[in-house]
Amino acid sequence: MGTRPLADAVDVNGVDFAFEDVPALHELLADLRAVRPYAIVPFAGAHAVLLLTHELVSAAFKDEETFPAAAIYPLTTGPVLGRTLQCMSGTEHRINRAVASPPFRRNRVARYVEPVLEPLAHELVDRFAERGEADLVAEFTTRYPVLVISRLLGLPVEDESTVRRWAHDLFYFPFEPDAAMTASREFTEYIGPILAERRRRPGDDLVSMLVTESVDGNRLGDEEVFAFLRLLFPAGADTTMLALANTLTALLTHPDQLETVALAPDEHVTWAVWEGLRWEPPVGLLPRLCPRATTWNGIDIPADTPMIFSINAALRDPAVYPDPYRFDITRRETAMLAFGQGPHTCAGTWLALAELTTALSVLLQRLPNLRLQDGTEEHVRITSQVGAALRGPTVLPARWNTA
Ligand code: HEM
Repeated sequence: MGTRPLADAVDVNGVDFAFEDVPALHELLADLRAVRPYAIVPFAGAHAVLLLTHELVSAAFKDEETFPAAAIYPLTTGPVLGRTLQCMSGTEHRINRAVASPPFRRNRVARYVEPVLEPLAHELVDRFAERGEADLVAEFTTRYPVLVISRLLGLPVEDESTVRRWAHDLFYFPFEPDAAMTASREFTEYIGPILAERRRRPGDDLVSMLVTESVDGNRLGDEEVFAFLRLLFPAGADTTMLALANTLTALLTHPDQLETVALAPDEHVTWAVWEGLRWEPPVGLLPRLCPRATTWNGIDIPADTPMIFSINAALRDPAVYPDPYRFDITRRETAMLAFGQGPHTCAGTWLALAELTTALSVLLQRLPNLRLQDGTEEHVRITSQVGAALRGPTVLPARWNTA
């Protein structure tokens, strides 16, 4: 991909960061960061610059000039999701974001918790609570965030399993592009008439908010609404699903801290969620591109070099977080970088936090003495999902006490 090779030697061999699970990832990132704040690693048959410190990752997110989101997203998610916010820059991005983001502001999101998030979490737990055991990934974490989006969009409850299939197929786009393209087309055909109806008779759902909101006289056109709604599945549901599963993994493998949270949820749940996001952010290794040759923070980067913003290395940077490899809910530190930074920072941060804290509170309330099933410790492991960018566990076999 690069027009001339990177001047630095490659630091890692034998694993491709675009497509593979990177074994012992955190140890590898720590070893690399001990040498330099960045590394050169194999990526999609080329070499990428992997940024490893909080300082560099934060600076890179804010530097849209050097690493524009619009240079990569049209190549990666563009074919399946269309021209989303992530493909836009400048005025177009500012206006689209301003029109689409009000429903996700902190004060509006607070209003979703009681009518939508809490009842939904209970509804899912009702299906398995009496059994005393379940795989929380299969029965809760993979279901809840997609259902949240469906309910916020005001979609009919009987369509939820179809929506879940589309969300799943969109997620696996890099490995099964045909299924993802079909899901994208079917979802658009499905949502078209709903959108037309909400334009005629707006309600209080998210689709209505997106079509009625205007900023400086600008409203979203149909294709802009479609692209935003398609983006909600990979950007909003899959990330939250992995974040919840990662926090649960952390707690289930640190039973003393799980007990602390369960005993005083009001005091600890929010901090457990932040610490989960810091310890294992779902978007661990975010790919970008450097379209023009430059020297950036002392790194010579040829034109068209793939970049990887290692959010997970940044959130375990000892310069910012003391004893960073320890999962510790009493740390009382946020992990905002999990949501990116700069102009493309996550539009759904407050919704994600509300979903995560509500889900964790409900699970702890409904599943007393939550713990891993005996003998399953070695199967509970956070690995790369769909290439190295995203991370989460595949199973979480849990038990709890029943009455
Ligand atoms: C824990 C859950 C979540 C995490 C860790 C997360 C993380 C991120 C990150 C890292 C970015 C920046 C990507 C980049 O700069 O290339 C981003 C962007 C975005 N996220 Fe989230 N996200 C989460 C949940 C959500 C939710 C619930 C929504 C629903 C509204 C959402 C909507 C978006 C959108 C629309 C963007 C694109 C913003 C833009 O390009 O201007 N995210 N997210």
